[in-house]
Amino acid sequence: MIIQEHVALQSFNTFGINSTAEYLIRVKNKDDIHHAREFAQSKNLENWILGGGSNLLFVQENQPGLCIKSELLGKKIISETSSHILLEAAGGENWHEFVEFCVQKNWGGIENLSLIPGLVGASPMQNIGAYGVELKDVFHSLDAFHFPTGEIHTFSKADCGFGYRESVFKRKYTGQYLIMAVRFQLEKFPRTNTRYGAIEQTLLEMNIANPTIQDVSKAVIKIRSEKLPNPSIVGNAGSFFKNPVISIEYFEKLKKEFTQIPSFSTNSPDQVKIPAAWLIEYTGWKGYRKGNVGCHPKQALVLVNYGNAIGRDILELSHEIKVSVKSTFDIELETEVNIR
Ligand code: EPU
Repeated sequence: MIIQEHVALQSFNTFGINSTAEYLIRVKNKDDIHHAREFAQSKNLENWILGGGSNLLFVQENQPGLCIKSELLGKKIISETSSHILLEAAGGENWHEFVEFCVQKNWGGIENLSLIPGLVGASPMQNIGAYGVELKDVFHSLDAFHFPTGEIHTFSKADCGFGYRESVFKRKYTGQYLIMAVRFQLEKFPRTNTRYGAIEQTLLEMNIANPTIQDVSKAVIKIRSEKLPNPSIVGNAGSFFKNPVISIEYFEKLKKEFTQIPSFSTNSPDQVKIPAAWLIEYTGWKGYRKGNVGCHPKQALVLVNYGNAIGRDILELSHEIKVSVKSTFDIELETEVNIR
C-alpha cells in the first residue's frame, strides 16, 4: 500500500481550495486502516479522515499529519422481513449512487436525501438531512474503526447521539473514528414523505398526483439542481451555516419588528428554527461577490468559490455575514462546515 507525501488536496474538496496533505493514504479495507494507524504511530503523526470533502473548508495551506482517505466499497443485504430490508453500505461508497441504487430497487426511506454530495461514511457524522428527512430516520447501526485503540466498535442509533446536523462523531469523538460501514433500515413498500413545501410544489409542477419514491427522488434532484450550485462547476460545500434554533419568546419579539420572518417547528414546543438563508438575504448578502468568493444568488446559505479563492477569503466572508446577522437580529449563526 502506498503512502504519498505532499499531496495536493484541491480535487479532494468540493470548495476546490488548495491545501497540501503532509501524508496521504487511501484505505480500501480493514488491513489498510491498521497499516495507516501503525504508520501514524511510528512517525508520531496526527491522523485525520477525508471523506468526500463536501462539508469541509481548508484554511491551512498545509495539513500536517496523515490524511486517511476512505475508499472502502461494498453493499450487502444483512437481513430481510416481509416489510423491511436491512442494508449495509461501506463508508467509502458515494452517497448519491447509494440512494439511486435503493430508489431503483424500490427500497424507501432515503429518496429525499438524493443528490447530497459526499460519502456514506460521512452521512452519520452530521446526521445529513434534507426535505423533511434526516439520516437518523432510517439509520440502524454502524461499525467504526477506533484509532486510539485499533478496535472496531459498533454504534446503535442511541449511541450516535444524533441531533440537527450533530452526532457524537462530530464533537465528542472528533477525529477518533473512521466509519467503515453503515446499516440502514429501509421499507419494501415505501410510503413517500412529501410534506416539505418545495417537494409538494415541484411534484405539482411535474403533474404527479400519486408520487412513487422514484418521483420524489426526481423532484428533489430538480429542486437541488435549480437552487444549489454544482460543486464541479462552482466550488461550495452546501449550507455554510446551520439554521439557528431560538426560543418562541424571542421569535415573537422579532416578529414584531420583522413581520415576514419565517420559522419552522422543532421537536421542542418552546423553540423554533429560523432559516439562516432568510436572515442572510434580509441583511443584503444574497448574490454578493467580492473577488473570488461570494454568497450564492439562488441560495443565501451557500458560500461559493468562483475561482482561486483561498480558505481564509471564505472564512472572512462568513465572519462578515455573522456580524451583520448578529447586529440586525441578535442571533449568532453557527458554522455548519468543518474548518481545518
Ligand atoms: N430562504 C430565503 N432565502 C434564500 C433561500 C431560502 O429566505 O436564499 C428561506 C425561505 O423562507 C425558505 C427557507 O429559507 O422557505 C428554507 O429554504 P430551503 O428549503 O432552501 O432550506 P434551508 O433551510 O436553507 C436546509 C438545509 C439544506 C437542505 C434544505 C432542504 C441546513 C443548514 N440546510 O436549508 O441542507 O438541503 O434545508 O431540506 O439545515 C446542507 O446541509 O448542506 C444543505 C444543503
